[in-house]
Amino acid sequence: MIFNVIFLVISLIVFSPASGYGQDEGWSTAHATFYGGSDASGTMGMFYYSGGACGYGNLYSEGYGTNTAALSTALFNNGGSCGSCFEIRCIDDDQKWCLPASIVVTATNFCPPNNGGGWCNPPLRHFDLSEPVFQRIAHRKAGIVPVSYRRAPCMRRGGMRFTINGHSYFNMVLITNVGGTGGVRAVSIKGSRTGWQPMSWNWGQNWQSDSYLNGQTLSFNVTTNDDRSLISYDVAPSNWQFGQTFSGAQFH
Ligand SMILES: *[C@@H]1O[C@H](CO)[C@@H](O)[C@H](O)[C@H]1NC(C)=O
Repeated sequence: MIFNVIFLVISLIVFSPASGYGQDEGWSTAHATFYGGSDASGTMGMFYYSGGACGYGNLYSEGYGTNTAALSTALFNNGGSCGSCFEIRCIDDDQKWCLPASIVVTATNFCPPNNGGGWCNPPLRHFDLSEPVFQRIAHRKAGIVPVSYRRAPCMRRGGMRFTINGHSYFNMVLITNVGGTGGVRAVSIKGSRTGWQPMSWNWGQNWQSDSYLNGQTLSFNVTTNDDRSLISYDVAPSNWQFGQTFSGAQFH
């Protein structure tokens, strides 16, 4: 721990913005730690929301695996970063702690302020990674490393997924497995007996409609934060039930 603190003080000097990192090809600087065990299940002194602040629930079944990160306030963007992908590489000059690989992770959770040593406090940019993915960019013993990061395309298998929660007149649709930039900026929904209606953002990647859509086939128009839109027609059949998940189109 003491060693880590010393290392951090040194790294703050070495990797201050004056060193030139952060202006290079859209790369910015941050720090990274890891949480949990080798299966990324637990947390190491960090408090996270059950189901995650993005609402993704079981990350394995949602297809994100262990390539996930919890983002500090400065990066989380109030949930607007949920689903976005980031390429991250360790940038320790003396090569002692870093591995040469870069990784691509999906933002799936929020790292709240005032825990785990305060690394997620505003205005710090911080990625708390699952342990297996941390170990691909740095030695586990480093504990915390300076990193550079940039937005990266999200490579997804299969279509976007739409999980319909809520109840009549309150449809909450969780949208996961989004390709492209991965972050959703706007969604509209169409029942077979309605026109297109904008959905309102509720929390994480949950989008809400107050219309009565029971018994109708549902289509979705998803706009990612690079302003690309993609329509998934008739994703849910008319006999859809609350709690079910349906697969739609995909950004490439
Ligand atoms: C889908 O949404 C985008 C962004 O709001 C909009 O520009 C586009 O016209 C929509 N498409 C349809 C068919 O409603």
